[in-house]
Amino acid sequence: MSEFAVVELIRTKRDGGSLSDAEIDWLIRAYTQGVVADEQMSAMAMAILFRGLDDRELSTWTNAMINTGERLDFSGLSRPTADKHSTGGVGDKITLPLAPLVAACGVAVPQLSGRGLGHTGGTLDKLEAIPGWRAELTNEEAYRQLEDVGAVICAAGSGLAPADKKLYALRDVTGTVEAIALIASSIMSKKIAEGTGALVLDVKVGSGAFMKNLDDATELARRMVALGTAAGVNTTALLTRMDTPLGMTAGNGLEVAESVEVLAGGGPADVVELTLALAREMVQAAGVDVDPAARLADGSAMDVWRRMIRAQDGDPDAPLPGAQHVEVVSADRDGVLAELDAMAVGVAAWRLGAGRSRKEDPVQAAAGVRMLAKPGDRVQAGQPLLELHTDTPDSIARAQEALVGGWMIADQAPESTPLVIDRITA
Ligand code: URA
Repeated sequence: MSEFAVVELIRTKRDGGSLSDAEIDWLIRAYTQGVVADEQMSAMAMAILFRGLDDRELSTWTNAMINTGERLDFSGLSRPTADKHSTGGVGDKITLPLAPLVAACGVAVPQLSGRGLGHTGGTLDKLEAIPGWRAELTNEEAYRQLEDVGAVICAAGSGLAPADKKLYALRDVTGTVEAIALIASSIMSKKIAEGTGALVLDVKVGSGAFMKNLDDATELARRMVALGTAAGVNTTALLTRMDTPLGMTAGNGLEVAESVEVLAGGGPADVVELTLALAREMVQAAGVDVDPAARLADGSAMDVWRRMIRAQDGDPDAPLPGAQHVEVVSADRDGVLAELDAMAVGVAAWRLGAGRSRKEDPVQAAAGVRMLAKPGDRVQAGQPLLELHTDTPDSIARAQEALVGGWMIADQAPESTPLVIDRITA
C-alpha cells in the first residue's frame, strides 16, 4: 500500500483540489485499519461537505469502501433480484409490504436493512415487534430463504463495506452526515456489495427527510443512480414527498399492523400508492412483466409475507404488543387539518420510545404515534387528532412538546401535492 501524508490530502480537499485514485484508495483502507485517525477523517469529511467530490472521486471512493469488505453474489438464484433503498422518512414502513409483493411477482428481494437512529424508524426495529422474529441470518440462510420464499429482510452483516460503518458513526458525531457525496457513497457501497441485480432508490424530500429541498434530493438521486449503473446494477430513483408522515402510524408495532392491512387489500391510500409505484419500478428493473397491483389484490403478496415471517421464526398470527398508556391530542378548533409535520411526529414517536438516541439503546415495540387525521381532513374542535402510545408515561410530556407547532388547522384545505415528484434514470 503506498503511503500518503494524510494532512496533505486534507489540505488538498480543504482548498478545493481533487484527490487521485491512489490517494482515495489508500485513505479509505488506512482509515479502516486505524492508520488514519478519527480526527483526521473528521477533518476530511468536513472538507468534503464543503468542497464535494467530483464524479471520478466519488466512484473511486465508493469502490474503495466496497473493497474493504465482502461482496455477496445472488446470481445463482433461479429468479432475478431487485432491492429498494429509502433515504428514510417518518412512518416509512414501505419495505414491509413491498418485499413480499415484489417476491410474489417473481423477483427475489434481498433486503439487508439497518436499525433506526434518530427520528426515522429502522425496518428491523419494526419487524422485531413481531413475537419470535429474528433479524440476524447467516449469508447462507438469507440465500436459502431467497430461493425458497423469494424475500428476505434481515440485518446487514458487518462484512459489507466495513469502512462505511466506521465512517458513518464518525459523521454522525461530527455534523457531516449531510454531505451529498458521502451519503451517496455510503448507501451505494452497501447496496452494490449486497449483490442485487436491480435497485430502486426512494429519495425523500421535505421536512422529515435528510434532503429538505428538491435540488439537493435530485443531485443525491442522480449521483446514486450513476454509481449503481456504473457498477452494473440496473438503478432508478423516485423522488417522493416527506413533509407529512406516510400512512397513519409512526412506531414499530403500529407500522407492522398498518403494513399487514395493506397486504390484506386495505391500508392508507398513500402507503398503497407508494408501495405499488416502487414495486412497479423494481419488477420492471428486474425485467419481469407482472402487474404488482394484481398480486396485491389476489392475496399472493400476503402469502409471501406470512412465509417470510415464519422463515425467520416469527408468528404472523400472534397479536402485536399494545402500549400500556395512550394519550390523545385533540383539535383546538373547527376547520381543515392543513399541516402535520413529519419531523414533529417523528421526534414525538422517538421520544415515546419508538426510536433510540444511541445505537445500543432498546426500543419499545408498542410506542409511537397513531394519526387519526391527515392533511386535508375536516376536523372539529375537541376531535382526537393523534394518539401517543408508550409504555413509559413520563415520556408523554416531551412528546407533546415535540408536537407544539407541528400541526395546524386552517379554514381552507391545503393544496394537494403529488407523493411521487420525479423519476430519475441513468
Ligand atoms: N443512510 C446511509 O446508509 N448512509 C448515509 O450516509 C445516510 C443515510
